[in-house]
Amino acid sequence: MSVPFLGVFDSGVGGLTVVHALRKVAPRMPIWYVADQAHVPYGGRPLEEVRAFACGISEALLAKRDGVSECVGVVMACNISSAVALPVVQAKYPHVPVLGMVEPGVRAAVKRTRNGRIGVLATEGTVQSGAYRQTLGRVAPDVEVYEVACPAFVPLVEAGAEGSEAAREAACRYLHELESRDVDTVILGCTHYPFLLPLLRRLSPQFVYVDPAEPTAEMVGEKLSSLKTPDVPRHQLFTTGDVGVFHAQLERLFPDLLLVSEVKPAWW
Ligand code: SIN
Repeated sequence: MSVPFLGVFDSGVGGLTVVHALRKVAPRMPIWYVADQAHVPYGGRPLEEVRAFACGISEALLAKRDGVSECVGVVMACNISSAVALPVVQAKYPHVPVLGMVEPGVRAAVKRTRNGRIGVLATEGTVQSGAYRQTLGRVAPDVEVYEVACPAFVPLVEAGAEGSEAAREAACRYLHELESRDVDTVILGCTHYPFLLPLLRRLSPQFVYVDPAEPTAEMVGEKLSSLKTPDVPRHQLFTTGDVGVFHAQLERLFPDLLLVSEVKPAWW
């Protein structure tokens, strides 16, 4: 009998924040995580190109049904991929759950705001896609939204420089834009940004920060709760980039995950 697994992907290490949340709600579900580090960051690329990367990785994961392993769902743990590729993959695979980050994040933020003014920190591409604005318009038409593109953040997190002066300067600049808009709730619209949360909280403690990872993981947990999973799961962590660099990032960010995982180059 083949072992089920959940496919999860991002441009880099950001989606590991979602893996962390998923392991809390579905501790026995094996996860195959793909970090597309050959192409990180996605955020400044043309949306068509990001769509092609995201569709390609989703399809590679969903094609894994070989009698040994079976992909039972995909989480786009990457906001820009969710923004530009989610409906395409959902339409192609209507019988498998394919989930993204935008709607769970929006719904969680709408519950938290008191003054009806929500800020979104995201990559340039996610802002350009209009995904947060459109989803907020549909879910809560009365809420006002202010988006700030943060092109410096993903490269800083991939380089392990969350605590650097460059990170502090960039965060001050981006947060200042939201402060001038009087928002009370801020969506972290990129899965790399939770690594910057201690810095953001220190600089602007007045905001309620919403990390879409948890509500997304809860949604996945509900969809996959009936599956038979192994007692002790092993996870597979793939990169399209340098395996040694990825391994070192994992050691620094999630050493506990490394203990129950194999780290490999992407298989396609
Ligand atoms: C990026 O690679 O620029 C970030 C991916 C995301 O939007 O979460």
